[in-house]
Amino acid sequence: MKITIVKDYAAASETAGKLMSDFVKANPSCNLCLPTGSTPEGPFEVLVRNAKAENISFANVKGFNMDEYAGLGRDDPNGYYYFVKQRIYDHLNIPPENTDAPEADAADLQAACDAYTKRVAAAGGFDFTLLGIGTDGHIAFNMPADVFHLNTHLEDLSEETIEANARFFDDPDQVPKQAITSGVGMLFSSKVIVLVACGKSKAKIMAEWLNNPVMDPHLPASILHLHPNCTVIMDEEAASEVTVK
Ligand code: GLP
Repeated sequence: MKITIVKDYAAASETAGKLMSDFVKANPSCNLCLPTGSTPEGPFEVLVRNAKAENISFANVKGFNMDEYAGLGRDDPNGYYYFVKQRIYDHLNIPPENTDAPEADAADLQAACDAYTKRVAAAGGFDFTLLGIGTDGHIAFNMPADVFHLNTHLEDLSEETIEANARFFDDPDQVPKQAITSGVGMLFSSKVIVLVACGKSKAKIMAEWLNNPVMDPHLPASILHLHPNCTVIMDEEAASEVTVK
């Protein structure tokens, strides 16, 4: 695992965004696994800016949301597909049929999970995954648990996560209590992983993870210790308690 510490969020966004745009330039038919939250906003802006400046084509790129709130459809402004569409798809020449996400508004959520696992596998899996991290160490919506779930599945969100994500909703009671997420196995199978963590609120979990060379499903990101091509980008605040640098 490569650890990169930069000054602030702007620098982390530049670094992660460039890794993404360079990857698409070198791999024009790649499958991107895309996150949401505050963290990817900057990297996504840099990706779009670089793609336009360098004429990088997304005509053969496939975009996959890594997760989605249960019950929310693709047009829901609080939904994760909508988030990625607004920030990436609307600005680049990626064909809409090349974009995918779990069908979280389906009547049968288990069937929607299984179908997503199959669609991602049929496409050849993820090539490049951009990750954020929750304050409890979750990646995508894989909450701390006794096991690592490999495939797409339904998760009950922890109170901590519901509270942390309430800032995106007009009414905190609107935050869904469940989400569909790509399993840790699907994320780990990505050829390249870039995880970005910024700000003081991430300092504790980054230290808990990176200072301890163990793999523990109660800290889902810890599986990335073993990944052959994973870069962790932190700003100075997030890295402030990390001793292994
Ligand atoms: C949500 C998302 C995660 C994201 C996390 C942290 O739980 N499902 O993918 O990493 O929020 O978000 P933020 O970047 O806003 O701190």
